[in-house]
Parts: sequence; structure tokens; C-alpha cells
Amino acid sequence: MSVNPEIFNFFTKLVEKISGISYQAGKEYLVENRLTELALSLGYKDLESFYQKVKNNLTPTLLNQIIDVLTTNETYFFRDQHPFEAIKNHILPELIQKREKEKQIKIWSAACSTGQEPYSLAMLILEYFSKYLSTYRFLIYATDISQNALKKAKEGIYNQIEVNRGLPVTFLVKYFKQEGSSWRIDEKVKALVKFEYLNLLETDKKVKENFDLILCRYVLIYFSKETKTQVFRALWNTLNKGGYLILGATEIPPFNPPDMEKKLLGKTIVFFKKET
Ligand SMILES: C[S@@+](CC[C@H](N)C(=O)[O-])C[C@H]1O[C@@H](n2cnc3c(N)ncnc32)[C@H](O)[C@@H]1O
Repeated sequence: MSVNPEIFNFFTKLVEKISGISYQAGKEYLVENRLTELALSLGYKDLESFYQKVKNNLTPTLLNQIIDVLTTNETYFFRDQHPFEAIKNHILPELIQKREKEKQIKIWSAACSTGQEPYSLAMLILEYFSKYLSTYRFLIYATDISQNALKKAKEGIYNQIEVNRGLPVTFLVKYFKQEGSSWRIDEKVKALVKFEYLNLLETDKKVKENFDLILCRYVLIYFSKETKTQVFRALWNTLNKGGYLILGATEIPPFNPPDMEKKLLGKTIVFFKKET
């Protein structure tokens, strides 16, 4: 049976308008499967009746549920490893020196999914920079558009498969407590991270702070060229001079701001905001 193009177009247009996520042709079955599952879980008899309801009366709750099922939340601890090596060996030592007066380092995990990325940063700070914790404030902001992902991130409870992905055993033992078949992240790791809902399309409007380090990995890939440019520009504007932006390993900036310098730190390419 083929996917009803009217339903596919309706939902994909809706999701792109709100979140920027652009579902290309070829993703019909993925979209249909995820929406059908949602429709059935909400008590609708099929996707068609769910579509009629959404078309006629789209509530904010329903919209969130649709966004939740149509976002890809794939993530894991210390994803790609090399960026975390660069943060540990180059970026944080440099920022600590540069922020000697302010004694504050602000980090933003933009599109943090279920929390593995900001918690990896927090564990890295606790493990390798603990001597600065009494004198410096390390603030990690972590945001996402998916309410479900954020809920899980805030709980900080992961199953065995999740903690087996990317997390060194020494970190598991040191920073998690086992609860039945799950693992709960330690309060001292949690204390470094502040989770908040943020739609990246609204960065300009909603984000009034500046950051020394921004990680925005594996989310711009879902956006059209135009949206990617808009979001990248907004992210770049929130970056402090002398700060760093890190994208996913396979991602490149949609344009090159004049004050951007591309640097290779170890095996990772990062985007540095020039100071003059
Ligand atoms: C594949 S995950 C990447 C997570 C993490 N950055 C990493 O690299 O492991 C992509 C995340 O982007 C989020 N996302 C998609 N569109 C977004 C938007 N417009 N604003 C904020 N987050 C968004 C999704 O909810 C999802 O959690």
C-alpha cells in the first residue's frame, strides 16, 4: 500500500514550518510509520482519522507530539570522541586562560536530544578540570525542540544499551548509580547542566546570552539550505569573540562569516570567532 501524498505533504510541511526539519521524498514510509504509531497510541483508529483531527483542530499538545515523533533523537555519550579530545586538550585550557577575569565559561549544547552531549561535557569538566570548579563557574545550557527528549535528559536515567555507547566504563562507575536495569547520572553532573526548550529557528528572538563554546551537531543536516543559513547565522551571533563553534563531523558551515577562522584541533575541525 502506498502512502497518501496528501497526508505526507500536510505533516511534512507542518513540521518543516515549525522546526525547519525538511523531510525529502523517499521518507514517506518513515513518516507514515511514526505518525501511525502516534495515532494508534492516542486512540485513533488509523492515520487518516488522526490527519482529519489535526487538520481541523491542531492543539499545542498535539503539535508537540507530532514534532516529538518526527525528530530524530539519535545521540550517544562522547559522540565522535575527537571533538571531546579537542575540548579537553585545547578549547577549555584556552578558555580558562582567556576568562581569567570573568571566571565564567558558558557552553551551549544546541539540540541536545536526550542529554548525552551536555552530560559528556559536564563529566569531562568534572574529570579533568575539577581544580577550577571552586574558582570558575562552568555553565552548560542544553536545549532541544523535542519535549520527550528533554524530559528524558532532565531525568538523567539511561538503559544499559545507552550507557554502553561511547561512555568509558570508568565514567559509568564514577558518575552513575545503578537502579535495577538502569543507570542514574550523578547529581553533581546534573548540577552543571541547565536544560530548556528552544526551537533553534527562534534563536535570534529567544537567546539573549552569549557563549564561549557552542556545540550544534547533527541537526543542521535536517534543514534546508535557507534554514541552515538562518540558524547558523543566529548561532554565530551568540558566540563570544575568542569562542568556538563545533558542528557534526561531516558538517560544514553554510557560509563563512568574515570573523570566522577554521581550525584543526587534533582530528577535529572547529570554527573560531576571531577576537579582532
Ligand atoms: C540527531 S539529534 C543530535 C543530538 C546531539 N546534538 C548529538 O550530536 O548527538 C538531533 C536533535 O535535534 C533536535 N532538533 C531538530 N530540529 C530542531 C529545532 N528546530 N530546534 C531545536 N532542536 C531541534 C531534535 O529534536 C534532536 O534531538
